[in-house]
Amino acid sequence: MVTLRFLGQSGFLISTPEVKLVIDPFITGNPLAKQSVADLQADFVLVTHAHGDHWGDTLSLAKQGATVVSTFEIAGYAKAQGAAKVIGMNIGGRLGLPGGWLKWTPAWHSSSFPDGSYGGMPMGVVLELANKRIYHSGDTALFSDMTLIGDMGLDLAILPIGDHFTMGPEDALGALELLNPKIVVPVHYNTFPPIQQDGQAFAEQASLIGVRGVALEPGEELSL
Ligand code: NI
Ligand code: MN
Repeated sequence: MVTLRFLGQSGFLISTPEVKLVIDPFITGNPLAKQSVADLQADFVLVTHAHGDHWGDTLSLAKQGATVVSTFEIAGYAKAQGAAKVIGMNIGGRLGLPGGWLKWTPAWHSSSFPDGSYGGMPMGVVLELANKRIYHSGDTALFSDMTLIGDMGLDLAILPIGDHFTMGPEDALGALELLNPKIVVPVHYNTFPPIQQDGQAFAEQASLIGVRGVALEPGEELSL
């Protein structure tokens, strides 16, 4: 079994009996976050891109023992800021994990750190853990190559619906046509005024096209 705890914005703690991953941990400064950073223990922290609402608390998690896995540029930045264990990769690359693997995918977005440093290309990620396939798109627009990601066979897609900086709900529904996951969890909405959306309405619309929509509140969990 794999259990996902929503941390708010695009962040998750993803746990199996073999490994704990955190992705895009934006807790400090997130008005909706419920989790304390000190209580978040992970083997790996995955960062899709360098924007503050994704890079977030990565350094704190690294100092608590997590290995930072991201782009070559973000891994280098983390190392320079004191992260002891980093793995720098790039789009298309695959990494073995205890009980599975991850593979970085393209995302249409940008990627600079809060201080202006370059973060490399933005990415999404496909995870295989406990024989389940999970796609976290990172921040992105809709793009037709999502078909290639869908061809991998997805149990779960995690997609932004906030609009303004990423896909909005309509384009996220379009993405479901290309990805064909069994379940979709909407993210990247309601944290800030420009990205107010109705996650429950999106989940209901997804269900109408045959994908089980699950809108999680920060702190809530979903098991596959
Ligand atoms: Ni972003
Ligand atoms: Mn973002």
